Amino acid sequence: MAYRAPDDAGENLMDHSYDGIQEYDNPTPSWWHGLFWASIVFAAVYTAFWHFSEFSWSVHDMHRHQEAMHYKKLFGALGDLKPDEATMLKMMSDEKWRMVGSTIFAANCTQCHAGDGGGINGPNLTDDAYLNVRTLEDMYAIVTKGNVPKGMPAWENRLQANERILVAAYAASLRGARAASPRPPEGEVIAPWPAASPIPGG
Ligand code: HEC
Repeated sequence: MAYRAPDDAGENLMDHSYDGIQEYDNPTPSWWHGLFWASIVFAAVYTAFWHFSEFSWSVHDMHRHQEAMHYKKLFGALGDLKPDEATMLKMMSDEKWRMVGSTIFAANCTQCHAGDGGGINGPNLTDDAYLNVRTLEDMYAIVTKGNVPKGMPAWENRLQANERILVAAYAASLRGARAASPRPPEGEVIAPWPAASPIPGG
């Protein structure tokens, strides 16, 4: 294994010669073998941990965790919101709070109202016709109390008041957005919300 100095040439000098340049047949150094085997062991441990063990975590887990911590901080900053028209309008037009509302919507509402609000077995929230809603306060009321016999759950025991306000404001902000396969309008066409709400991509 030891490195041979050029002066003991002869016994391990290889017999080829290129333009007078000759080559010793020295063994690969032991540190090289060490690295080789260590990298194989590392790969095995790495694969076992990150792909097969339940103790590993993914960037998605880290992202979810960060997101949750972020919302906790944001909710702390909100204080107790009032479910009135002014608050709803503010939450509908503030991109940050709309984003928080959209994650609550994605987690609780899309199975019936669809990701884009076009409705599945729950009504379309993107059109101007509503069954239970005449005002923005009604949006909060229907989310809070539901209409259980008709299939709309009550959320008062499942979401905090602030969460209900944010998700109701988000649902209100979907009005006027374009849905991929909207359910036909149900109920009555109602007056526009008091101030225009910006609908990105709508
Ligand atoms: C299990 C299905 C289901 C889920 C989950 C659900 N909804 Fe509904 N939702 C309905 C149905 C059905 C109605 C219609 C009730 C009726 O006929 O009066 C409705 C009505 C509504 C209305 C009133 C629409 C109108 O035309 O009056 C709003 C607003 C609404 N839902 C928002 C939400 C929000 C926000 C969430 C999530 C927090 C949610 N819904 C979750 C089924 C659902």
